[in-house]
Amino acid sequence: MVESSKTEKDKFIPIARPDLPDMGDIKEDIETILKSGMITNYEFVRRFEKKIAEFLNVKYAACVSSGTSALMLAAKALDLKGEVIVPSFTFSATAHALVWCGLKPIFVDAERDTFNIDIEKVKEAITPRTSAIVPVHVFGNPCKIDELEKLSKENNLKLLFDSAHAFGTSFNGKKVGGFGDAEIFSLTPTKVLTAAEGGVVTTNNRETYEQVVLDREYGKQPNYDCKTIGISARMGEFNAILGIHNLAKLDENIKRRKKLYDFYKSELEDVKGISFQKINSSAHCSIKDFAIIIDKNLFGIDRDELAEALTEEKIGWRKYFYPPLHRETAYGNMNNRGDALPNTNFISDNILNLPFFTALKTNDIVRICNVIKKLQH
Ligand SMILES: Cc1ncc(COP(=O)(O)O)c(C=O)c1O
Repeated sequence: MVESSKTEKDKFIPIARPDLPDMGDIKEDIETILKSGMITNYEFVRRFEKKIAEFLNVKYAACVSSGTSALMLAAKALDLKGEVIVPSFTFSATAHALVWCGLKPIFVDAERDTFNIDIEKVKEAITPRTSAIVPVHVFGNPCKIDELEKLSKENNLKLLFDSAHAFGTSFNGKKVGGFGDAEIFSLTPTKVLTAAEGGVVTTNNRETYEQVVLDREYGKQPNYDCKTIGISARMGEFNAILGIHNLAKLDENIKRRKKLYDFYKSELEDVKGISFQKINSSAHCSIKDFAIIIDKNLFGIDRDELAEALTEEKIGWRKYFYPPLHRETAYGNMNNRGDALPNTNFISDNILNLPFFTALKTNDIVRICNVIKKLQH
């Protein structure tokens, strides 16, 4: 076979690439399940759950089919009702999952610098109908978790963290996973820890855990007499094998991501008109994404023009999250606080996510940043 003779310059740099184990490392485990014929409900999901609970130092971890089903199952297990306060600057699934559970998401604004939910705005949005707060650790950067815990206790609200982006992140020296009433993670290919597809609900509360475990399998008891109206949201054994092997390398991968992140920032920090997400100073962030905010007046061109120029140079990008939830078609009728979200609108209209993944090379970062620097005028 003739190898492609593409030069470095011609090589497309994708926005993301999953971390995957070597075939040699997973072969034995794959053979085990193929020989057993047990491709679901066998031993690897249970093993993965145990390893996750140990890694996050949380009592219970329940693996499920996706981050979205994790949110639905957690919302049900926590018996959320009525209104739930969520950021508008998040991925659609945060609110979609709540709506599927018959809840009404109340969108609040983000902090301009951290991109996370603004606690003062959460306070203003609390009504007698509010049952919970569902904050999101955007791109792995943890929210002000201590303040959110205090606020939810004072107001007798449930606190469910959408930690889809934040596996491996710590806050005040404690891993995200055991805060609030429950947390959820997503394990899709763009996440710091991936199992190809999948999600996890973590909690220190036994009842919440048992409810999730019951509901992820139709609410079925061994005698087929369903105790609750559950859904089908199991994780498969193949996914758990991928997850187990990726988890073994996670600390190493996070170290590399931190180095790449620092390198990116050092390459771009002197470029006028470009700024970055502020990482919480009490955090050790596992860094899911690398995002920049473009100030057209200082940089010379706007976010969309920069994205177009990157495409011409074969560099991937993503406008993430754009549009914000309160401006999505699906939420058109629920645009209840649309005008009150100036920071969300600003971030969403000016953000651009650049290629970021563990296997990214520093010379790729130099190439990306050189393109950006040349465009500044
Ligand atoms: C913040 C957030 N919450 C929830 C989800 C849903 O996770 P999944 O795609 O695994 O259903 C995602 C997915 O990327 C996400 O970004």
